[in-house]
Amino acid sequence: MTCESKLEKDTPPGKTSRPELDDQSKRLSSTVLAILLSILVLAAAYYIQYIRSYKPIEKRLEDTLNSLLKIERDAQVNVDAKIAIGYGACLDYIVPSRCLILNKRNPPTKAYHHVSVDDDNELLEVFAYYFNHGAAAERYINNKTLFGELVSISETCDITRTVGGNAPIMASRLIKEGIKNILLGAQMSPKLRKYLDSDITIAGPQTETDDVHLLIEYPTGENWLDIYSAPRANRFIVHNDDNNPLLKSLEIFHRQMTVFKPDLFIIGGLQMMEGYPGNGEKKRSRLEKVNQFIKENFVYDNHGDDHGKKTKIHFEMASYSDEAILRDIIELILPYVDSLGMNEQELPNLYQMLTYGNLTLVSDPYPRVAMVLDQMRDIYEAMNSYTSGRISRIHVHTLAFQAILTQANSGWKHTAAAAAKAALTSHRHTCGSHEIDAAKARLIMDESFSTTRSSKQKIKRILFNSNVPVACWSETIAGQQIQICVAPVLVCTSVLQTGGGGDNVSAAGLVLQI
Ligand SMILES: *[C@@H]1O[C@H](CO)[C@@H](O)[C@H](O)[C@H]1NC(C)=O
Ligand SMILES: *[C@@H]1O[C@H](CO)[C@@H](O)[C@H](O)[C@H]1NC(C)=O
Ligand SMILES: *[C@@H]1O[C@H](CO)[C@@H](O)[C@H](O)[C@H]1NC(C)=O
Repeated sequence: MTCESKLEKDTPPGKTSRPELDDQSKRLSSTVLAILLSILVLAAAYYIQYIRSYKPIEKRLEDTLNSLLKIERDAQVNVDAKIAIGYGACLDYIVPSRCLILNKRNPPTKAYHHVSVDDDNELLEVFAYYFNHGAAAERYINNKTLFGELVSISETCDITRTVGGNAPIMASRLIKEGIKNILLGAQMSPKLRKYLDSDITIAGPQTETDDVHLLIEYPTGENWLDIYSAPRANRFIVHNDDNNPLLKSLEIFHRQMTVFKPDLFIIGGLQMMEGYPGNGEKKRSRLEKVNQFIKENFVYDNHGDDHGKKTKIHFEMASYSDEAILRDIIELILPYVDSLGMNEQELPNLYQMLTYGNLTLVSDPYPRVAMVLDQMRDIYEAMNSYTSGRISRIHVHTLAFQAILTQANSGWKHTAAAAAKAALTSHRHTCGSHEIDAAKARLIMDESFSTTRSSKQKIKRILFNSNVPVACWSETIAGQQIQICVAPVLVCTSVLQTGGGGDNVSAAGLVLQI
């Protein structure tokens, strides 16, 4: 409009001596008018669409949240279930990477995935590697002086101190969900004991001090002088721990477990063996003890026994980078597991190891549903022969969704509710609050997803329905009747913490199923 009037003024009235020019400017002005009008119409259309779609997104979140909460409420926790969890505990310092590293250090010229860390330069290189992929990782620092320095610098930062290790975090989650009988296999000092619910029974030696683990956290998009940047929020863990890598609690824990007779035995924390110096035989001999114990106590012949009387074994994966250790675990522990829990990075890691015998170190942090489900099917198939049919449950937690696969008639209950609870717990953990505010949530799962990309299964397309947010269906894998449930995560938009999320989520998935 302003241009239009300006054009008019530029052509004074009465000046008709140059009609061609006048004509031209008229034509020009009508073109400009037309363009402006169409821009206006387009803008209005977008605006209307924005107003229209704005409400449904909020409503969709609200409906999804309420439906998930209802599914969670309707399933009952078997509070009398007996659960044993090993191995280990430590004192976690949650420290912002900004304070410990990014503000104080120059980025290294190359990023590299060292298996263990001997000096400062290796630390920066390995941190840069995982930071730049937004992948969680854990490393042993093979240098007491360096580790001491890192702890001292951390103590000048804004840190949170808490009990750490997969086992204590899972134990805490289970007791919060109402489980009354929990046996935790871990060594710890009386000081660390105070961080844990007094109803958890500790089985392990008492120590004078606790091993400190530094959980170096970074938010999505965190940037290190424009050379490295994090595609998603995550943490990098370092420690110099001499107790946990050799499963110091093992003897006492195993002895007590034979009396305790758990319904469920959860194995986690074995990744702390990685990078621990000394010969591999020492570590392997500890895994052999676990193997021996399982074979003596929790291996059943298939005659007559009903599922209820057997102890189920759950193995919690971690981000392994040492092929030798994971190979030992696959050989000594995995043949006896009923259930596996892992995140989207650990899934291709285990898949690669089971099928090719080597590791993928980093992978897509936002995998599509179909891809995750296909990898779960492949792992189920491989594990089905590996465990002679014992495997009956796989839970994969990702940032965007939870997927749980269970075998029919295997005794795992409430798969849909377990997926819903895991999804809610994921939000609760990262937002740091039990109450969920839909205003702090976002759905990043696709509006619809296909159930597979392979030709082995019939491809189904599932539309997201906010009133029935957990999608479940049956299929046949490796000759077994399988149920699969997928629940969307209401992704927390004001992230408070990422560390320990996997343990909370895995435990939340298990608690309704036992
Ligand atoms: C251990 O770390 C200290 C402090 O960063 C360093 O001075 C020393 O050279 C390191 N030792 C080795 C063997 O790399
Ligand atoms: C793992 O082994 C497979 C098959 O031998 C090979 O194709 C692949 O490149 C290897 N991957 C890594 C990360 O070494
Ligand atoms: C996750 O577990 C830790 C350890 O028990 C706990 O401090 C934290 O609050 C948990 N998160 C949620 C959301 O429950």
